[in-house]
Amino acid sequence: MQVDVSIPAVARIDDFLLGGGHNFWPDRAAGERLVATVPGIKLAAVAHRGFVRRAVHTITGLGVCQFLDLGAGLPTLSAPHSVANEVTPGAVVVYVDNDPLVVAHAELLTEGDRCTAVVQADLADLDFVLGNDATRKLLDFTQPIAVLMCASLQHLPGDRDDDAAALVAAYVDALCPGSYLALSHMTADHDAEVAAVVQERFAATTTPVWPRDEPWLRKCFAGLDLLEPGVTTPAQWRPDRGDPGQHPDLYYVAVGRKPKA
Ligand SMILES: C[S@@+](CC[C@H](N)C(=O)[O-])C[C@H]1O[C@@H](n2cnc3c(N)ncnc32)[C@H](O)[C@@H]1O
Repeated sequence: MQVDVSIPAVARIDDFLLGGGHNFWPDRAAGERLVATVPGIKLAAVAHRGFVRRAVHTITGLGVCQFLDLGAGLPTLSAPHSVANEVTPGAVVVYVDNDPLVVAHAELLTEGDRCTAVVQADLADLDFVLGNDATRKLLDFTQPIAVLMCASLQHLPGDRDDDAAALVAAYVDALCPGSYLALSHMTADHDAEVAAVVQERFAATTTPVWPRDEPWLRKCFAGLDLLEPGVTTPAQWRPDRGDPGQHPDLYYVAVGRKPKA
């Protein structure tokens, strides 16, 4: 495995912002630069991770115990398999990421756990993601599955808005009724200045970001029933542990359910 850890990567910068220990000095340096220019970015990361936790908790509580986490990042703070298993022991999670170091770390963190699998893949390669042995072994596509696309589609280039939305639709298409989509995406709609700074900082990493707007996000949920409160910010999606603190709003988030045909 050939990985250049001298170039910062989003999963490890995120881990740094969340207070984790699975990062290297270039990631920490990139994280520190972000913190210096965008005060509150750590709280924004915590607020976003809180959304992922509550989305998984909510969906598991609604009876779905299979998850496909696309662009999973490092399963450190509130990892979906831990959250889902708190609600339903035996809930299964397939983590997908294209960063080989993320995959290596995730494999170590979930070693011996027969309810999780880690797949190294580009989330845009739908056929491989859905068709590989690990996914097929763990997930039963005749039963509802929750697809998580949290802060991952924003790494698909900005000139591929239609591709990104079509990809979401293709994943949803592969799911049976009663399945869920939880999606979060960086946006410049709330604070264009801060979003521009973040975008500029990430341009120097292995994982540049492209913010998208509310109509794009709503398009991804076409044909799905949005769970309350609909399309909103991470902190406003069913808050349960109080105010995460003052932070820039960098995301849209939403959860939708695939209705009966
Ligand atoms: C910001 S992190 C989000 C982690 C987690 N989903 C969360 O919401 O906290 C984005 C993750 O997406 C992964 N990623 C970016 N582009 C990807 C792609 N084309 N295919 C698979 N994973 C990708 C990155 O390696 C990183 O781990």
